[in-house]
Amino acid sequence: MNLNWSDEYKIGIEKIDRQHQYFFTLTNKLLKIVAKREQSHRELLLILNKLFSYTLRHFAIEEAMFDKSKYESAKHHILRHNEMRRKMRGYLRRINKPNANIDKLVTEIARHSVDWLHNHITVEDRLYSTYAHLLETKNQKCLPKKRRKSLILR
Ligand SMILES: [Fe+2]
Repeated sequence: MNLNWSDEYKIGIEKIDRQHQYFFTLTNKLLKIVAKREQSHRELLLILNKLFSYTLRHFAIEEAMFDKSKYESAKHHILRHNEMRRKMRGYLRRINKPNANIDKLVTEIARHSVDWLHNHITVEDRLYSTYAHLLETKNQKCLPKKRRKSLILR
């Protein structure tokens, strides 16, 4: 299994697109380790840790953008983020159990990440992008030409 970045995933907000691409890189690293016969648990835990902490940072950045742009569907989008936050906490709890089946758990996490990335980017993140672009166009029209610089899509 491999995740391939394509234009389908681009939402047109550069910062977010860059971060999403990095998610693909991290998830592919995880998939690669999972596919190896001899997995080092240390390696697995390291990449998982990276993936989870990057997710938390990314959500915080997106949510700050919602605030800044007064995004009307922020509540719904944040609910989706919170589901993922809960899910990650659950995985960490299970991983830290003394009798945890790390290999099985990590495979489950990798599969979930692939589905999550695909669904969340192409649905929720795209909806936000449409809103932000519309708002941007509206704002630009109100500004004198000289002062027209992007306030939202950065
Ligand atoms: Fe999001």
